[in-house]
Amino acid sequence: MATLLIVKAHPLDAQKSYALRALEEFQTRYASLHPEDKIEVVDVFEDQIPALDKPLFEAMEAAKKGVEINPEQAERLERYNELTKQFLAADAIVVINPLWNLNVPSQLVSWVNTINVAGQTFKYGPEGSIGLVKGKKLLHIQSNGGVYAGQDPAAQYIKSIFEFLGFEDIHQVFIEGQSANPSQAQAIYDKAMVKIDKILESF
Ligand SMILES: Cc1cc2nc3c(=O)[nH]c(=O)nc-3n(C[C@H](O)[C@H](O)[C@H](O)COP(=O)(O)O)c2cc1C
Repeated sequence: MATLLIVKAHPLDAQKSYALRALEEFQTRYASLHPEDKIEVVDVFEDQIPALDKPLFEAMEAAKKGVEINPEQAERLERYNELTKQFLAADAIVVINPLWNLNVPSQLVSWVNTINVAGQTFKYGPEGSIGLVKGKKLLHIQSNGGVYAGQDPAAQYIKSIFEFLGFEDIHQVFIEGQSANPSQAQAIYDKAMVKIDKILESF
């Protein structure tokens, strides 16, 4: 039994978002292809994702030194570590987000921070950093108002982070151009679903 982790970083629902409609379809098809697998969902807009701020940073430093931290810091640090463990326990990851101001939503950045942990997901080597996360797959689905073909900073960011961590099996699907060509919205979605279906064959 494998574990699929879905990281949902879109605040709307499938009735209002093409990206979430694609996610719903993906999840249904994945579940029928892999009925024995476990599917976990992290909703970065709904679930607690501790932002990497001063109290959390201080808590991390204190924990390393064995210094006592206050209960609120301890709770946030525990949740942070829980997200790292959940990521490490998954076999495949799906990240889904809209493109906002050429970036991913900041809530997704907070989740990404939880999977970049020196000593656990990467390490510092004599010739640079070494990704420690091997054998996992990533599917990144992003909806863009315009057309960027993977060259926008958000798509590049997600690709770079997962490559940095050691991922070698990375797929990206862009549902893009609906704002530029609203009359083509359904056709754009259908084209993206064909790509997702193809990826599902080996995901
Ligand atoms: C705050 C905000 C910022 C956005 N910034 C961009 C942008 O920089 N580039 C772009 O192409 N589309 C941008 N868009 C459009 C979204 O990417 C678009 O809403 C999304 O593709 C719609 O997908 P959905 O149907 O999954 O919600 C932005 C939308 C919002 C709400």
